[in-house]
Amino acid sequence: MPLIIGNWKMNGLIAQLSEIDNLDNELSQIHHIKCHVVICPPATLLVSATQNSENSKVAFGGQDCHFEEKGAHTGDISAEMLANSGAQYVIVGHSERRADHDETDEIVQNKAKAAFRAGLTPIICVGESEKERKKGRALEVVLSQLEKSIPDDIKKGIIVAYEPVWAIGTGLVPSIDDIDEMHLAIRKLLIKRFADLGEKTPILYGGSMKASNAEEILKIKDVNGGLVGGASLKAADFIGIIKAV
Ligand code: PGA
Repeated sequence: MPLIIGNWKMNGLIAQLSEIDNLDNELSQIHHIKCHVVICPPATLLVSATQNSENSKVAFGGQDCHFEEKGAHTGDISAEMLANSGAQYVIVGHSERRADHDETDEIVQNKAKAAFRAGLTPIICVGESEKERKKGRALEVVLSQLEKSIPDDIKKGIIVAYEPVWAIGTGLVPSIDDIDEMHLAIRKLLIKRFADLGEKTPILYGGSMKASNAEEILKIKDVNGGLVGGASLKAADFIGIIKAV
């Protein structure tokens, strides 16, 4: 089943929780929902979101975690804390974390392992910059990030998200052929490394996905869902993407 995951980033005060209620209301009106729906709110809203949504069709995730279980890391949040707050997923290696916090592939891999340890499914993000794409290095960069960011043992299950950095929050989207080419290359790498598990691993597209372009993108063979930023903040926008599945 495809996954549509909303990443709220650093957006949302308590009042924003009403958007999750709105989303639930919209979802309850759809006869047969054809995807899993996940929201990754800021950590401050996670407990309230999961407690308010006990009978909800929405699952929740964190946006990042520290790789250690606990300790002297002021301001950080462990995967165990996210799980304890009701999360089932955690985004690791988002390009904004890689850029703002100098996260390397090695750190991202350790975070993915921390997610396994806590019983969460890591959503491992990769993507090339505009400069790298212009130089014709997109495939090489993304495949290298994947090689180094994914742990050797993925028995507990991972999700991969391909998010070209230049497409995030810009309204720009790669051509269908470019997304197709990248997702196929990612699939090949996953199968080579993990055989059957690689075949089954969901590969999401992320970067300016919205209701108007979702259908076309989600139709691509190895696109198994979307990681959605801006268009996930309002239930009215997000539901359009869910309906496009
Ligand atoms: P966007 O963000 O949908 O606002 O482009 C996607 C993401 O960063 O996950």
